[in-house]
Amino acid sequence: MHSNIKLFVEADYDAMSQKAAEIFAAAVQAKPGGVFGFATGGTPVGMYRVLTQMYQSGKLDFSGLTAFNLDEYHPLKRDDAQSYYTFMQEQLFGQVNIDAAKTHIPNGEAQNPAHECEAYDKMIEDAGGIDFQILGIGANGHIGFNEPGESFSARTAYVPLTEITVQSNARFFASADEVPRHAITMGIRGIMMSRRILMLCSGEGKAAILRDALCGPITPLVPASVLQLHRDVTIVADKSAAALL
Ligand code: PGA
Repeated sequence: MHSNIKLFVEADYDAMSQKAAEIFAAAVQAKPGGVFGFATGGTPVGMYRVLTQMYQSGKLDFSGLTAFNLDEYHPLKRDDAQSYYTFMQEQLFGQVNIDAAKTHIPNGEAQNPAHECEAYDKMIEDAGGIDFQILGIGANGHIGFNEPGESFSARTAYVPLTEITVQSNARFFASADEVPRHAITMGIRGIMMSRRILMLCSGEGKAAILRDALCGPITPLVPASVLQLHRDVTIVADKSAAALL
């Protein structure tokens, strides 16, 4: 594995969540007014729970942070139960003292997605770029909603979801038919411009793709493999996800 990648292997999901929360909290304490990139999905839920507890016990202050989320389904109403806006409200933003005016998520209701993508990149630039980006990894190696084959040079883009992603996210919806077929996602280039990246990875279902991403060839067919080229990546995995490393 490349020496730019720090790997922590934790016993289980809870230990992974605790470790990732500690790393995130230390980054906030080091730069309370920093710009932080957030991720959704099942994996970071435990970390957000620990961060909420840290806030409640007075150990972590979110008031100075600016937040940018990686992605949002399109089309989907902001207040839909499955929107990433709702997810962030429920899992973190609605639970801590973050300034709502400084939280940003791509607009799943945008009439003109291309315009929304440009505006999103401009907001990130105006904020000074992302200091610290949280990532998960999809079963197919996607980061954000950058599916296999997307160009490494993309900034925020309106993208189709692959069938494997639709099926894998169908567990959150009433049926696969209800999963939107597109998303607005920060692109690979945008993610790579973050100064520091923290990726969480849990469960045996992610073991093969984590191995491919960290130890295999760097290729758009495994979007997360691009992280081998980033200068400051920390991976926190549980034992099952790290089993093939
Ligand atoms: P998951 O999704 O955390 O729900 O497995 C990860 C991802 O798609 O980035």
